[in-house]
Amino acid sequence: MNKNIILCGFMGCGKTTVGENLKKKSGMNLIDTDAYIEKTNNMTVSEIFEKYGEEYFRELEYRACRELSQKRGVIISTGGGALTFERNVKVLKDTGTIVLIDVPLEVLKERLKYDKTRPLLQRPDRDRAMKELYEKRMPLYKKAADIVINGDNSPLQVAISILTATKS
Ligand code: S3P
Repeated sequence: MNKNIILCGFMGCGKTTVGENLKKKSGMNLIDTDAYIEKTNNMTVSEIFEKYGEEYFRELEYRACRELSQKRGVIISTGGGALTFERNVKVLKDTGTIVLIDVPLEVLKERLKYDKTRPLLQRPDRDRAMKELYEKRMPLYKKAADIVINGDNSPLQVAISILTATKS
């Protein structure tokens, strides 16, 4: 079976940019779960959160994971919350290798300092919220991951490390 590569990690860890580099290097197609949800629902992630709430978004995310897991030999870049849910891990792992892009919290905080697109970060105590989420999520990501890659590097370098690790 031509396994998918599933990119996992916290918001800002570089799933999208690493995915683009990986696509260039490998020739595999790249699908982003958030972009897929936005396209199939004709709304942005922020609009979905605002209008219907997070729980509804998680249902759409689950559906996206189920549908995308039917593909073969593609790169699937997941939203930062996706692989904290066992049901999503289960369907994606069936046909893919889950790769955690591991980036330290301090680096993520710096990268996301001015972010306006992520609904979970639009709050005055962003740093504290990120720390709490990060501590809660890291163990779940690690449990889900087949491979952990150091993501505190250039997107190209991270992509090369992923290709090497998934080939061996
Ligand atoms: C989320 C991360 C976002 C997006 C949504 C929720 C999360 O994706 O799915 O805002 O729960 O961490 P990115 O990780 O691509 O920012």
